[in-house]
Amino acid sequence: MKKTAKRIYLDHAATTPVDPAVVDAMLPYFTTYFGNASSLHSFGVEAHEAMEAAREKVALLIGATADEIVFTSGGTESDNLAIRGVAWKQRAKGRHIITSSIEHPAVLETCRSLETCGFRVTYLPVDGFGVVDVERVRKAITKDTVLISVMHANNEVGTMQKIGEIGEAAAKQGIVFHTDAVQTVGKIPIDVEKMNIGLLSLSSHKIYGPKGVGALYIREDVEVEPILYGGGHEKGLRSSTENIPGIVGLGAAVDIAKERISADMKEQAMLRDRLIKGVLEIERSRLNGHPVQRLPNNANFGFEGIDGEALLLHLDQAGIAASTGSACSSRKHSTSHVLKALGVPDALARGSLRITLGRSTTAEEIEYTVSAIHEGVNRLRRMSPTWHS
Ligand SMILES: Cc1ncc(COP(=O)(O)O)c(C=O)c1O
Repeated sequence: MKKTAKRIYLDHAATTPVDPAVVDAMLPYFTTYFGNASSLHSFGVEAHEAMEAAREKVALLIGATADEIVFTSGGTESDNLAIRGVAWKQRAKGRHIITSSIEHPAVLETCRSLETCGFRVTYLPVDGFGVVDVERVRKAITKDTVLISVMHANNEVGTMQKIGEIGEAAAKQGIVFHTDAVQTVGKIPIDVEKMNIGLLSLSSHKIYGPKGVGALYIREDVEVEPILYGGGHEKGLRSSTENIPGIVGLGAAVDIAKERISADMKEQAMLRDRLIKGVLEIERSRLNGHPVQRLPNNANFGFEGIDGEALLLHLDQAGIAASTGSACSSRKHSTSHVLKALGVPDALARGSLRITLGRSTTAEEIEYTVSAIHEGVNRLRRMSPTWHS
């Protein structure tokens, strides 16, 4: 492995760089068009028009209409608004929620907080690849069920769920279906109508837009209780002066994503497959997640006898930025709840490595990364007093 002075970023599931065209689109909204979108004067009108143009773009990307889009501060807030919003609005009808055991903490912790307020939550198990069985979803539905929330793709292992089928099962019983699509919007085509989605969360910083902005799609017939009260912005669903530069940035990021979606998917899946092939040549290594039903930019590996963090440090020294799992859990040093739910033994889960590709990833970077991983794993195993090949 030749040492490189260049840094290689392979942690796009954690966040993406802001596209320079997105920055250009945003800049005038900090200084020239800085108005408050609620103001009636021309400054306010300019801001309002820009916001509505962005709303239209987001809606079009997922097959919704503009009045079904609420801007939020990101994926976490969208998940909270969707789940708490439906739960509180429909509490007279029922207090049961169905979700999966591998959701992002933004969903899991929201559900747990509702359990302390008298709601009952079913956390569905997944199979060894991280797939939720649609039949289990159907069987978990009770007369009391008001919401089903299952993510489109998992942020750690990249497994994609059959959300169209889950949406159909929910629709047949008249239950609202929410999906956390933070890892898929802009990467995988989505049609909320065809997939029977009632609510969908998305986040700008995963699609080359700025941090601190996202959106929740709320189908026109779905009622939610706000979680933020105040001046009644976003039709009373999300009070607080709108983040116009952020919203404009999200709109610009959506424009670019729409243009590039199929080419990006193809290119990244091809590079991901090269990466997987090269890394799995390492003895006693495995791919976590589904072999084919997975995000085009995600590969998650397990290595026997390796501490994932030591491997990350080795890669960091080689100029490669990767992750052991999700960005939020990487500072907590706990075993991933996702790998646990997949039944990955603790020893292997501790040696996990998540590589997530992006638009700038090249074949040379992947080749360099494969050899850096080989070298890192071999070195760490050689140093281990307990490793026997
Ligand atoms: C699947 C998923 N949901 C929700 C979030 C939270 O999004 P945000 O960082 O915009 O709050 C993330 C971010 O990592 C995610 O991957």
